[in-house]
Amino acid sequence: MNFENVLVELDDSLATVIINRPKKLNALNRATIKDLSKVFKKLEKDKRIRAIILTGSGEKAFVAGADISEFANYSVKEGKELAAKGQKILFDLIENLATPVIAAINGFALGGGLELAMSCHFRIAANNAQMGLPEVSLGVIPGYGGTQRLPQLIGKGRAMELIMTAGMINAEKALSFGLVNYVVPQEELLPLCIKMAGKITNNSPVAISYAIKAVNAGFKNNAKGFETEINAFGSCFGTADFKEGTSAFLEKRKAEFPGT
Ligand code: COA
Repeated sequence: MNFENVLVELDDSLATVIINRPKKLNALNRATIKDLSKVFKKLEKDKRIRAIILTGSGEKAFVAGADISEFANYSVKEGKELAAKGQKILFDLIENLATPVIAAINGFALGGGLELAMSCHFRIAANNAQMGLPEVSLGVIPGYGGTQRLPQLIGKGRAMELIMTAGMINAEKALSFGLVNYVVPQEELLPLCIKMAGKITNNSPVAISYAIKAVNAGFKNNAKGFETEINAFGSCFGTADFKEGTSAFLEKRKAEFPGT
């Protein structure tokens, strides 16, 4: 079950899904999002698979964000569709998957990368991992659920700070915030995820799928939050700040935001 941008390794009841665009630090372009969506749907249907680990290829990045080169010229409408479709086909899909998904954060998890990790049921990080939501440095906001899931996981004040400063936190800080559950050296990351998956697969898959449903139900009254995020994300695509922010990234220079 391999795709252009995603590799899947199966071992008994465990599937490891590897995002495979290392030269672009595994940035999520549309094709990768589609591939991941197909993979997760297939794995959920396969009743032999009792746990899934999601990670990035290489030792540098889990995912360094949505692919900026792909959306830099989008209109407001296209921006809104990008967020709405991505949330539906991948981020919400993973969050609500009946099969447990562990994010193995093996390096940078930025923007859409951190949002992807936050859609997983829990996270384990390598000690070189760096996490953040740098979208406002590009003139845009997180559009794949980051404004909703980050405050859920680490609290509103910490989330506001991370989003507004566009800063990165290291793995130890992420551990102290409760964003990740464990931090281990890079070489111990997959072994620990496999060990945790092993503990999960000893238990009733039906009960686990109901537990996922029940835990998620407690956060479901914020549908308006996701909708507001999608609309606000789309609006950013009509601003001069967004044009400047994305051009500056692609031209490898510092952005000078006009503030309009
Ligand atoms: N979208 C598109 N391409 C990306 C990317 C992204 N989100 N993140 C990294 N890349 C590409 C770079 O453009 C570069 O491509 P090139 O070799 O063709 O020039 C390649 O991946 C390697 O990245 P580079 O920036 O050279 O690595 P670095 O070690 O100097 O810096 C980061 C690493 C993660 C700090 C830096 O890549 C970065 O800031 N990425 C964007 C993060 C971001 O803003 N994400 C949110 C998007 S909404």
